[in-house]
Amino acid sequence: MHSNSKMIEIKSLTKRFGKILALDNLNLDIDQGELLGIIGPNGAGKTTAIRIISCILKPDNGEVLVDGHSIHKDQIKIKSMIGYLPEEPNLYERFKAYDLLKYFGELYGVPKENLENRIYELLELVGMSERAQHRINTFSKGLRQRIGIARALIHDPDILIFDEPTMGLDPATSNSIRNFINTLRGKKTIILCTHYMDEADALCDRVAILNHGRIADMGTPDYLKSKIHGETLLKIKVKHIEDANLSEIRQFKSVENVNVSGGDILVSLNSNHEICDIVNVVKEDVISLNTKEPSLEDVFIQTVK
Ligand SMILES: Nc1ncnc2c1ncn2[C@@H]1O[C@H](COP(=O)(O)OP(=O)(O)OP(=O)(O)O)[C@@H](O)[C@H]1O
Ligand SMILES: [Mg+2]
Repeated sequence: MHSNSKMIEIKSLTKRFGKILALDNLNLDIDQGELLGIIGPNGAGKTTAIRIISCILKPDNGEVLVDGHSIHKDQIKIKSMIGYLPEEPNLYERFKAYDLLKYFGELYGVPKENLENRIYELLELVGMSERAQHRINTFSKGLRQRIGIARALIHDPDILIFDEPTMGLDPATSNSIRNFINTLRGKKTIILCTHYMDEADALCDRVAILNHGRIADMGTPDYLKSKIHGETLLKIKVKHIEDANLSEIRQFKSVENVNVSGGDILVSLNSNHEICDIVNVVKEDVISLNTKEPSLEDVFIQTVK
């Protein structure tokens, strides 16, 4: 796993747009080699925060140190360390895929003798080798996104910042992008903004929930889910449902709610310790049972409501 040295330190970051307070005294540290997810409602400040870290936008107040370099002094150094996939990659439409990557490679100072290999390697990685000589303006949304990712990686940066990398992509393409991000785990320091809770859950070491420009909660996906109460759902499919059994199940301390749906008894629990005893009440009638654990989506909804 990652070491504990801090790669990105965000200190008291504040940003206003007119009357809108987009970032409200934000503090956040990201370790080297960590994959940090940022989730939060539309307008929470996610994109604003990562644009400031990437030196595209200046804050009103506060500091960001990237490997010890200040966004107020060392923009060029910081930009060379970061690969940034914007929410809507702004690609030069008339360029061919190969030429676009060559252009950015030169801009970022990739040594000439390595550049061609690097471009082909990246096109291969994002599954776009066959389209190397096609123009950007002929690409669909998902194909553009792949080129955007290749562009972010061209200078082999230590830090990668992905703003909704799989937004609007088909499930297979999303999956291949997630798998690819997973291959970078531990090797790069990564910030991933997403609205897909399963993506955050599967990929991230830690998740920060941003709301109104502040961290509402933060921790590993398991830690965040463990904070949700009354969300474990026990579903018992039975041969027939008897009111006496439902009443008996309602008596358990850990039971918050009992409902019936078709042939299923749905029991909402605030803890798992009585599950066996609860099932025992109907044990002669049980056909099947399963539990649904709280999801990151449940955490999101409870945290930002
Ligand atoms: N250039 C700008 N001019 C004016 N207001 C802005 C600008 N950029 C962001 N904002 C405002 O700042 C707030 C935070 O926006 P931001 O784009 O950071 O949100 P977000 O968390 O990325 O949301 P989303 O999930 O919709 O992408 C919003 O109220 C937004 O309208
Ligand atoms: Mg955004």
